[in-house]
Amino acid sequence: MDKFLITGPCKVKGQVSISGSKNAALPILASTLLFDKPVVIENLPRVRDIDTMLNLLKSLGSKIKFSKNKKTVKIYKTKKQNYFASYSLVKTMRAGILVLGPLISKYHKSITSLPGGCLIGARPVNYHLSALKKLGMKYEIKKGYIHATSKGKLKGTKIKFSKISVGATENSIIAATLAQGKTTLKNCAIEPEIKDLTNFLKSAGANIKWIGKRTCQIIGVNSLNPTTYSVMGDRIETGTFCVAAALTKGDLTIKNFNPKLIQTELNLLKRSGAKIKTNKNEIKIKGPQKIKSINSIFTKEYPNFPTDLQAQFMVLMCKANGRSSITESIFENRFMHVAELRRLGAKIVIKDNKATMEGNTEFTGAELMSSDLRASVALVLAAIISKGQSVINRIYHLDRGYEKIENKLKKIGVRIKRLS
Ligand code: EPZ
Repeated sequence: MDKFLITGPCKVKGQVSISGSKNAALPILASTLLFDKPVVIENLPRVRDIDTMLNLLKSLGSKIKFSKNKKTVKIYKTKKQNYFASYSLVKTMRAGILVLGPLISKYHKSITSLPGGCLIGARPVNYHLSALKKLGMKYEIKKGYIHATSKGKLKGTKIKFSKISVGATENSIIAATLAQGKTTLKNCAIEPEIKDLTNFLKSAGANIKWIGKRTCQIIGVNSLNPTTYSVMGDRIETGTFCVAAALTKGDLTIKNFNPKLIQTELNLLKRSGAKIKTNKNEIKIKGPQKIKSINSIFTKEYPNFPTDLQAQFMVLMCKANGRSSITESIFENRFMHVAELRRLGAKIVIKDNKATMEGNTEFTGAELMSSDLRASVALVLAAIISKGQSVINRIYHLDRGYEKIENKLKKIGVRIKRLS
């Protein structure tokens, strides 16, 4: 298994360009199952989860043609349509559940594996299933698979999500696109990646309108037209590089991301002392000489502070000049990085879902273990500001969601090597 060797401390300086968003690309790729005609998706990140989703689409009968740099795909429907989404593919990437909505909406049948949990939580899909059921899906769960059918087309209806869920919102929007009549979804998640999904579907002729802050109205159409769509930049990768600059007294220009979509994070970074200038698709960020502590950060649904940046900000707060706390309110077990940060010298106390960081801690390089995608990148950030060498094991977690991160980090001054 690959590992990273990082020799710190380093300062990041220069320019980095952000790859396409994994969490926008995954639902967009799943929704190509709705199409009869070919569809072109551009600016895909070259990360493992995208490969897994493309393999899942192939297993369902889609034909995939890659461009030279593999960032653009042309997806064709074939005659060998299949409706079985296997556990072997879905277990490695929970977003596999997003093929259920398009399959039931287009083909009125599907056998999709339950995704199973992951390290950060049980990750149930009850909100997905209850919403699709309201649209007319009948299902029963047998041996870990969702056996789903519908009597002809799904029927538009009114749905209010009892809890805000990114995936359940995406699955429902995709399924309602070809349903009969009007669907109104209330209490939707409104992450930018979901807006990217609805922009993509609208570019193919879907009738989708955001009629309230968290209310989406979809009027079903008979079919979708061919389209070419470029996926938005990755919001979490952008936030991660911003933290890298803030952590290392760095000076970074981050390109290919719309700064309007991470105002909450940029405001927090300014409160920690970073100097930030933004243009249309660019962020210039300078790290402070002294990082100011922020006494309490809460992860919440968009547009609040995202859970996917919680681990990265924890590293920043370990180096701040005072005590701070972060409360994780989205997932039940998303502090796996804390034990690893303590090995570097971090002083963090956890009580329930709240972590309190003593600031002004010196980190010394050590051997570390990755646990989940975002925790792994937090370990990379911590190793970058540690004195001496760190080894980060099991970086396949990182490869799921960050495109060639070591190349990007090397270019901005980080002493990092991948050991296979
Ligand atoms: C998406 O996961 C993202 N994944 C996650 O990013 C992200 O952390 C999460 O949204 C929150 O922003 C993708 O977009 C592929 P949810 P998702 O449904 O859709 C519970 C990463 O690192 N819940 O908003 O699974 C759930 O357990 C990943 O890229 C139910 O109880 O998130 C969680 O506690 C990690 N029942 C909370 O709701 C359900 O049916 C929010 O989950 C669905 C969710």
